[in-house]
Amino acid sequence: MSEKKVNIETRRTSCRQWRFRTLLCIALAFPLLMLVCVKKEHLLHTLRGPAVERLSVEEVPSDQLADHLEALGLSSDSSIKIMRFSNGKSQKLHGRFLHITDIHPDPLYRTGSSIENVCHRGQPDGKEDEATRFGTAMAGCDSSMDLMEYTLKWIENNLRDKIDFVVWTGDNIRHDNDRNNPRTEAEIFDMNAKLTKRFEAMFRNPKSVDPRDFDVSIVPSVGNNDVFPHNLFSLGPTLQTREFYNMWANLVPEDQQRAFARDTSFFVEVIPGKLAVLSINTLYLYKANPLVDNCNSKKQPGFQLLLWLGYVLEELRTRGMKVWLTGHVPPLPKNFDQSCYDKYTLWTNEYRDVIIGGLYGHMNMDHFVPVDGKKSWKSVEQSAAALEKDLDDDAYPYEDDQDDDEVLQSAVEASDARLMGAKPVNKNAYMDSVREGYYKKVASRMGKIKADKKKDKKKKKKKKKHPKNNSVERYSIVNVAGSVIPTFNPAFRVWEYNTTGLEGSMAQDCSSSFKPWDAFFRQLDSQIEFDVSSEAKGDAWGSLSSIMRGSKEKKVDKTIPKRMPSNLKPGPGYAAQLFSPTRFVQYYADLETIEKDYKKALKLGASEDEAAAAAFKYQVEYCSDSEPYSMKSLLAQDYIDLAVKLAHNDTMWEKYTERAFCSTGYDG
Ligand SMILES: *[C@@H]1O[C@H](CO)[C@@H](O)[C@H](O)[C@H]1NC(C)=O
Ligand SMILES: *[C@@H]1O[C@H](CO)[C@@H](O)[C@H](O)[C@H]1NC(C)=O
Ligand SMILES: *[C@@H]1O[C@H](CO)[C@@H](O)[C@H](O)[C@H]1NC(C)=O
Repeated sequence: MSEKKVNIETRRTSCRQWRFRTLLCIALAFPLLMLVCVKKEHLLHTLRGPAVERLSVEEVPSDQLADHLEALGLSSDSSIKIMRFSNGKSQKLHGRFLHITDIHPDPLYRTGSSIENVCHRGQPDGKEDEATRFGTAMAGCDSSMDLMEYTLKWIENNLRDKIDFVVWTGDNIRHDNDRNNPRTEAEIFDMNAKLTKRFEAMFRNPKSVDPRDFDVSIVPSVGNNDVFPHNLFSLGPTLQTREFYNMWANLVPEDQQRAFARDTSFFVEVIPGKLAVLSINTLYLYKANPLVDNCNSKKQPGFQLLLWLGYVLEELRTRGMKVWLTGHVPPLPKNFDQSCYDKYTLWTNEYRDVIIGGLYGHMNMDHFVPVDGKKSWKSVEQSAAALEKDLDDDAYPYEDDQDDDEVLQSAVEASDARLMGAKPVNKNAYMDSVREGYYKKVASRMGKIKADKKKDKKKKKKKKKHPKNNSVERYSIVNVAGSVIPTFNPAFRVWEYNTTGLEGSMAQDCSSSFKPWDAFFRQLDSQIEFDVSSEAKGDAWGSLSSIMRGSKEKKVDKTIPKRMPSNLKPGPGYAAQLFSPTRFVQYYADLETIEKDYKKALKLGASEDEAAAAAFKYQVEYCSDSEPYSMKSLLAQDYIDLAVKLAHNDTMWEKYTERAFCSTGYDG
């Protein structure tokens, strides 16, 4: 581990030396440029990250062939933008990004072994039981190394030069589902490190010696299987958070190192000063993490993560930036502790002027969930009221007095007893619960609003005391992605977004007037330290109940956001504007057809590699704007309209679940 660190350090130093020499040469050759160069070097030293002023945005015709884009289902009428920065760098913008998740590569996977033995060993009991080279959907095995390799190759060959950044939401190693080969910590980190190197090599700027210089920014996040034992992860700094930092040293901005050491969360300015992607360590909010009890007590990892989230969102709002929230476990009541779910949903919803949407993985099913901010306000208020009662009884709720060792032990036992695998079980029941619990509720609310509007029209004179707020704004859209692991067919998604207006937004650019990020983070780190210290007045629950009492005391639970100020306009997730998502293309690999084509090619005398190259491919499964969804764009309103259709229309619902299961024909 320390060796790795040294390695990175030396690379950084040699890079600096290189830069210095280049600048020296330029300075000697063009004495007139001397001044500029010195200034440039100064800039490079103080602002190693991308936080450098933009000088210009230029629109140029797309360098892609229209036919090629069309074959990939991508918009072909797009032009690209070239942004130039004051540090001499430039960045191409295509208005697209990739979301990939749950790759789960398994180094023990053996082609030709028995599926019954999790594709690790044994003679297959007939054809049905045989582990194929790229895997069998729904069989319960993890990804073969070939499935991972060919997937990444396909992305490199087809998408790399068409996207701006990659959202990569974790689970980069096999499940702990083989009694004969329990996972080890070393194995987990080795595979994660290996995959990080692979991603870096794919998306690095080949012309640069700076290891942090990428053509396509990469934003990884921690999956519940990327830690040991799975699901269990404590607040940093720990050996494990340090391990992640070393692994992602080129991806996590340097000035966020301390914040990262605590929360394993960070953000990347994928368009400097304009667009950021937040990588959130959802394990701190995750019910199945034995170290998470709630998000109300200062000692809880989720409480501290939400403090970070709040300060960062507020700063991004101040700077006029827009953000995507990303992480491994989707923020749903099924997954998060109740108080963590409610508070996270409140932040998502009250910063809807800033947040474009949420991108998550973990569940292997391609679907979306509109979560309800209004409901979470009610829930938080009810908890506070309940607390009030408890306080009167002199009982302090949610005291965290569990011994950490005890928790650890029970978690290890649980992971032994419940061998978690990739085989889909009862997924239709889950999808039905999404339809009943979300889409139908949304539909009945929307129906009611329509009826109310009609009533209003009839009695125009009687004005309502409380005209309804734009009803869609209470919802935030949680996007859950299909996975590469063949739980169903392997899948990933390319999103397209609006870059129109970027030039205009430059004119009113005042990014130089903000304090440098490193100053912000120094302040943030000490602020959070203070917030969780005993000096900070009151605790979360005490302050919440004082709010409920209408007490004048200024005790505020900082993990609950303030309401969105009414003078702020809804952001790109709610109204068409710069950075609004416009459409997506869902890709999948049809494993059954691939296996058939592979075998056919072998029979015709092709070598294994030739056969694989000929047979393996991803293809467009569907696009958001094609039939039957025909979504005009991807604003909250478009999702709500689709939810309403899905609630009522069984034909549409059938199509939707078929796609949720990545067109495998799953019916369980
Ligand atoms: C809409 O909601 C905001 C914040 O929740 C509130 O300040 C505003 O008064 C509401 N507007 C209407 C018309 O109810
Ligand atoms: C794109 O953004 C511009 C403003 O920057 C806006 O006028 C236009 O309606 C947006 N289009 C979409 C489809 O979001
Ligand atoms: C249901 O959706 C299908 C498309 O999947 C459409 O053809 C049909 O007209 C819809 N039915 C109703 C009653 O809206």
